[in-house]
Amino acid sequence: MTLRVSVIGTGYLGATHAACISSLGFQVIGVDVDPKKIELLSKGKVPFYEPDLEELLAAEIQSGRLTFSNDFGTIADADIHFICVGTPQQANSLAADMRFVDAALDAIAPLAKTGSLIVGKSTVPVGTAERLRQRLSAVNPGVELAWNPEFLREGFAVEDTLRPNRLVVGVTSDAAENKLKELYKSNLDAGTPWVRADLPTAELVKVAANSFLATKISFINAMAEVCEAAGGDVTVLAKAIGYDPRIGNRFLQAGIGFGGGCLPKDIRAFMARAGELGAEQALEFLREIDSINLRARQRVIELVRSDLSDDLQGKKIAVLGAAFKPDSDDVRDSPALDIAAQIQAAGARVVVHDPKAIENAQMRFPALAFESEIENTLTGADLVLHLTEWKIYREIDPVKAKALVTGAIMIDGRNALDRDKWIAAGWKFRALGRASHN
Ligand code: UGA
Repeated sequence: MTLRVSVIGTGYLGATHAACISSLGFQVIGVDVDPKKIELLSKGKVPFYEPDLEELLAAEIQSGRLTFSNDFGTIADADIHFICVGTPQQANSLAADMRFVDAALDAIAPLAKTGSLIVGKSTVPVGTAERLRQRLSAVNPGVELAWNPEFLREGFAVEDTLRPNRLVVGVTSDAAENKLKELYKSNLDAGTPWVRADLPTAELVKVAANSFLATKISFINAMAEVCEAAGGDVTVLAKAIGYDPRIGNRFLQAGIGFGGGCLPKDIRAFMARAGELGAEQALEFLREIDSINLRARQRVIELVRSDLSDDLQGKKIAVLGAAFKPDSDDVRDSPALDIAAQIQAAGARVVVHDPKAIENAQMRFPALAFESEIENTLTGADLVLHLTEWKIYREIDPVKAKALVTGAIMIDGRNALDRDKWIAAGWKFRALGRASHN
């Protein structure tokens, strides 16, 4: 008999996981406490932008393998329950808010059938799995708990879930590992590396990976600061060090830094947890990683100020990009939007364009002005900021763009535009970590 799977929490992670596991041929039920989400998903609609997901979801619903429900009773029969709820940063501290994870465990613990497995996927402070395991065994000793962190990137969620570069399982028994091997058989057959770990290590792998990625980005942004001071070019520097395979050339794109719903909150929660464990000193460097990251936003704002002679009052600033990265409509902790809002607060008239994220951006910053056409965004602008590296922005013709703006000043906050082309078209071109061109 094939495994029946439940997915608790149908946000980014859960909706993607449910559709992908269903596409492997398993029966999947996604449950959520939010009736609006369930209604949309049941119709094959994804409440956020993620390439390929909607098509996959619709096909899986059509196949009859994938369903969604608000009723936790519908999942009592599943063999594996995945907990995929969010762990956002707490309002008044660096630590993660564990209420949703705890509530999900409490909802499923009494219902799960004997011999089934509850698997955490959410990013959690180390020690959570053991705490939940004890809580579960007090309520339902016939059910085991495992941890299986997720490494998907927004914008590549389907690809990363179907073809992960590794599978990590934190388990306390061979039976639990074997059940997960049965579920992920197609990945194992395809040669995906499989790492069996204990519960705390599995939890730590996730935050260690995100901390490393954040460190790489802040490292190159620190080099960008030094390049600016020394008259160097960080894009050439990144390329040159990246040829060393021990360093690698990915995640060395200098610019306005990392945002989103994962990297910033994960490094903060990791620091908070290390503090609780008495290992604060080991992660002290992450505080610096966070500061370098936030400083990049201020450096762009300083460039704007210096280009407009420190007078932003009434100036029209065109902002290209609101999402925290391209191919996403996610604006959580978006460096682009943060910069836009700060410039507006300093007196400028900011107009923001984004191909997918305007609705979300508007909800977060209703006072900002938004435009759905690039042309209207640029028209009459005194300065243009390129803050999310969508492909469509690389396709802008700088000659045509120059005819629209009042001030032909481009600040490339992502080091992604073809500088020579913009300079040849008569633009003043600025970028973080590179010498200025007038
Ligand atoms: C990140 C990790 O990459 C995933 O492996 C992980 O599963 C996920 O968090 C998570 O914890 O759920 P994601 O938040 O989708 O994925 O975004 P990334 O692609 O990691 O980008 C994060 C930020 O770093 C973006 O704002 C991006 O613009 C910025 N970035 C990335 C740079 O500034 N420079 C780079 O070279 C790369």
